[in-house]
Amino acid sequence: MEIINDIATVQSRCLQARQDGKRIAFVPTMGFLHEGHLSLMREGRARGDLLVASIFVNPTQFGPKEDLSAYPRDLERDAELARENGVDILFHPTPETMYPKGYKTYVNVEGLTRTLCGESRPGHFRGVTTVVCKLFNIVQPHVALFGRKDFQQLAVLRRMVADLNLTVEVVGLPTVREKDGLAMSSRNVYLSAEHRKQALSLVDALRQAGVAARHGELHPRRLVGLVRERISREPDAEIDYIKICDGDTLESVDRVDAHSVLLLAVRIGSTRLIDNNYIFEEV
Ligand code: PAJ
Repeated sequence: MEIINDIATVQSRCLQARQDGKRIAFVPTMGFLHEGHLSLMREGRARGDLLVASIFVNPTQFGPKEDLSAYPRDLERDAELARENGVDILFHPTPETMYPKGYKTYVNVEGLTRTLCGESRPGHFRGVTTVVCKLFNIVQPHVALFGRKDFQQLAVLRRMVADLNLTVEVVGLPTVREKDGLAMSSRNVYLSAEHRKQALSLVDALRQAGVAARHGELHPRRLVGLVRERISREPDAEIDYIKICDGDTLESVDRVDAHSVLLLAVRIGSTRLIDNNYIFEEV
């Protein structure tokens, strides 16, 4: 595995691979890798001849009061895990490389980015689409893999790819969870033991809503009520949103069906966690 910091080298390696008829698979990440990221890499390995992953804690997707400087980093460990999981090229640029002096161009998807996380994190998705668009132009992948854990991000990126006529195939993979059900996230390291316990209310609430729906409760408001009641039992939980939306448009639904997704964002202490599930699917 090669670790490359500069754009021109990655671009020429990838261009060469394309000319040689190789299929390029790409997994963008912000590092501090866990099984969720690694599941994307293994799938990328299976789908491509050249597997490229990136580690870049992207400043443009963090708000001024968010955890950019505190975001966990461990390049040495990440490089080892990436290598073990079949990555050929690990792209690790600096912020100055990606956003040199005078940088002025942003990609923005409208509509889809206004709800859910877009409401409490203004500018976040603009940063995500900008960096992913740049990364796609650098790597020129045939296929790119993303986690359903970040459901809205996946929907926004699919919209960007369709709207900008990008040729990359976007693949979404299921959320990888800890044994007790907590969705894996690089941010879980912020949780104290007590808050780690309280964080289980998210998956527990998703499960309870799923059971209720499968027993015939199809009213979004009542399902959301159940979820709210479960999470509010935790002393340090502060709900950002709980919503049931159509899985493609992210618009609220009046009645739950097989395309409906329950999405939630909850602050446990100072750590903001997100989770989601297609409502009829088992968690
Ligand atoms: P990051 O949070 O590092 O996540 C990188 C990829 O891993 C994303 O596609 C995310 O959905 C996926 N992922 C995270 N946790 C997962 C889990 N528990 N199960 C399955 N997949 C999981 O998402 C980002 O970085 C950034 O916004 C990025 C797309 C790299 C742009 O900067």
